[in-house]
Amino acid sequence: MTNLAIFASGAGSNAEKIIEYFKGNATVRVALVVCNKPTAGVLKIAEKHEIKTILIEKEGFFSQNSCIEALKAHQIDFIVLAGFLWKVPDALVNAYRGKIVNIHPALLPKYGGKGMYGMRVHEAVISAGETESGITIHHVNEHYDEGNIIFQAKCSLEPGDTPEMLAQKVHALEHRYFPKVIADLVESKPQG
Ligand code: GRF
Repeated sequence: MTNLAIFASGAGSNAEKIIEYFKGNATVRVALVVCNKPTAGVLKIAEKHEIKTILIEKEGFFSQNSCIEALKAHQIDFIVLAGFLWKVPDALVNAYRGKIVNIHPALLPKYGGKGMYGMRVHEAVISAGETESGITIHHVNEHYDEGNIIFQAKCSLEPGDTPEMLAQKVHALEHRYFPKVIADLVESKPQG
């Protein structure tokens, strides 16, 4: 069995799609949700689906190895960042090298990096007059949004589209592709 941990800080709509996708799967399961925000919607979603959760705080996450120890204790093999806003500490990248993926709501390498998250991304894309945007699923390394790109999907932007409209298009792409891309990744690589 491959155990996934989902790291999320927000509403958790992607987390829910992933949890639902793997429900009943014989070889892959979502074993843990890791969250840094006590009020995040993703915690309710995890509870609804009876997935264990860990609430992390900054100091423990960045200066100690408590998170890595907890992941090991839960026998986590693979980490999915789905709307997780903190940078992943180097120690965690090292402990799970090649086994951490993130989703970014734009076509990297454009519109990525520190501070580029949520509506800021969509506002930047629209202000730049882009005619398309999309999603990027990539490996996580020591630098924000710079790991190898695994998958991208595009949506077109029409004149007059607002950041909110773009956010909806991007979310639809995320929900459609993220679970399947994760499945392909974990099933193609032997874990451990
Ligand atoms: C997604 O758009 C993801 O790309 C970004 O954060 C958002 C999370 O949305 N990094 P949700 O919490 O899964 O609804």
